[in-house]
Amino acid sequence: MKKFIVIGNPIQHSLSPLVHNYWFEQNMIKAEYDKVLVEEKELGDVIQNIRQEKIAGANVTVPFKQKIIPLLDELSEVALKTNSVNTVYKKNNKVIGDNTDVFGFYNSLLELMPNKTIRSVLLIGAGGVSPSIVQALKNVSVNKVMIVNRTKEKFEVLKNKFGPLVQQILWEDLGHKKFDVDLIVNSTSLGLEKKDDLNFNFSSVNKNTVFYDVIYNPEQTSFLKQAEAQGHQVINGLKMFLYQAQKAFEIWNDILPTIDKQLLQLMKKNLND
Ligand code: ATR
Repeated sequence: MKKFIVIGNPIQHSLSPLVHNYWFEQNMIKAEYDKVLVEEKELGDVIQNIRQEKIAGANVTVPFKQKIIPLLDELSEVALKTNSVNTVYKKNNKVIGDNTDVFGFYNSLLELMPNKTIRSVLLIGAGGVSPSIVQALKNVSVNKVMIVNRTKEKFEVLKNKFGPLVQQILWEDLGHKKFDVDLIVNSTSLGLEKKDDLNFNFSSVNKNTVFYDVIYNPEQTSFLKQAEAQGHQVINGLKMFLYQAQKAFEIWNDILPTIDKQLLQLMKKNLND
């Protein structure tokens, strides 16, 4: 039986096994998918297991999406562009790192904002998932991404990758600056805990602005609750998560699985709101 894993730290909350095992069953593939808590020093062993075909594929999550890169033989074009890997597998005797987060974010926008032209975006956070978001925004022809992050220095990494597309906003300005943008994305981990709050001035935003939080568990962060209360369209990270999983499944199994009603129900049941 083929074995797949998701590695991260922490990992206990990952719903990837639920999704992939659902698709294995649906497509009658004899395989299993588990979550594995790993330390940074164990990343080499994971790659070795993939090289020896003990593991057919791995998803990589926080905090290893960059750290795994030096251990790989080859990167896909998207992984290179974003310097971020969330999907690993072996092909032609090489261990390859790919990135399906860009596909995930991009497809969630196409599905959930089908008729809206997105030109300008405010991105809150410059952590591991941010380059994938900026790359997906570039792919939908966004021409301005303002980035605000608590740690200023992290902006430079994105500036080096994306040049004039990205502009820095100071963290101190988040609470009082006016933002005339089509979309505001929270990519920070603030919101994972119920008490978390972003110091954001919702009344400074025009009514057509859509709010997106990459967090999907809880289903609605306080950030999205407040935005919805102000009448904004809000999007959580569930579809991004499912689309990135869908693409990883396709890379490994040559089948694009469906995100059907039953899967959505299964997800909902397992979210601990
Ligand atoms: P990653 O490994 O993806 O960088 P992370 O450390 O959880 O994961 O950080 C994700 C994002 O959440 C970062 O933008 C981080 O800001 P910093 O670069 O300043 O660390 C942001 N973040 C996490 N906790 C935060 C907090 N308490 N206040 C503001 N931003 C926070």
